[in-house]
Amino acid sequence: MSLHCSWRDMMREAAGRLQAAGVEGAARDVRLLLAHALGVEPVDVILREMDAVDPVALTDFEAAVQRRLTGEPVSRIRGWREFYGRRFVVTPDVLDPRPETELLVSEGIARLPASGRVLDLGTGSGCIVLSVLAEREDASGVGVDVSEAALAVVRRNAEALGVARRVEFCLGSWERALPEGFDLVLSNPPYIPTGEMRALARDVINHDPHLALTPGEDGLAAYRAILAQAQRIARPGGWIGFEFGMGQGEGVAHLMAEAGLENTVLHDDLAGITRAAFGRRPLQAP
Ligand SMILES: C[S@@+](CC[C@H](N)C(=O)[O-])C[C@H]1O[C@@H](n2cnc3c(N)ncnc32)[C@H](O)[C@@H]1O
Repeated sequence: MSLHCSWRDMMREAAGRLQAAGVEGAARDVRLLLAHALGVEPVDVILREMDAVDPVALTDFEAAVQRRLTGEPVSRIRGWREFYGRRFVVTPDVLDPRPETELLVSEGIARLPASGRVLDLGTGSGCIVLSVLAEREDASGVGVDVSEAALAVVRRNAEALGVARRVEFCLGSWERALPEGFDLVLSNPPYIPTGEMRALARDVINHDPHLALTPGEDGLAAYRAILAQAQRIARPGGWIGFEFGMGQGEGVAHLMAEAGLENTVLHDDLAGITRAAFGRRPLQAP
């Protein structure tokens, strides 16, 4: 295409290529990639749409489109993802935060007492614990992950969001002893059953860490391991909240009841899919 084209022409042409390659939401992705290439906010692309294409930004835009054509997610191309209204650095070492995980954050914040302490198990980019701390200046927390590379990413995000003084990170596993006595424990653990891994979109299977996606078998191993420590990791009266996959709600709620949690409640995301469960450690020992 000639350089006398406008950015709108270029976006149309690129969206057509992405669509033909089977990329869902091609028009939205193209807008985000152009914003990245131009160094502007996505909402400001509209102000530049009719500008003539300039060759330097065009090279950057085309490189970004080529990467998207190979299935690389937009967040990886840009190097960050917006979550709960804030930017999180994402790299190949962490799960790309999903919008549905905002439900766990908002329900967790609603249950966090004044000056509460939150434990985030499988913290990844830190999108859960860091969002809670950014929303609640009185809160402090601990993030645990078995991946040292993920902890390097979450530390960067904690600094960038200005909450690093109120959070600690531990290299560790829920297969071993976890820190104890929190007001709120949140986790979005790997939950995809082995049998569903083959059906994942290539953006997911090729770009999210395997460790973040599946614990194998029925997908519930992480819930069992974490709940085996339920009566220690939460203080009496403290809440434990999980995200899980579609159709896993009843199974997770059952495991929570077996672990002695009470007031278990399931929550739906904005698409009406049951995505999170919260249960409370009784105030008195049963
Ligand atoms: C689904 S990702 C969630 C990441 C982030 N909390 C989010 O919601 O985007 C699961 C995380 O659990 C971590 N993980 C996997 N097995 C673990 C284990 N045994 N103990 C602690 N963390 C583990 C992975 O490294 C990954 O960061």
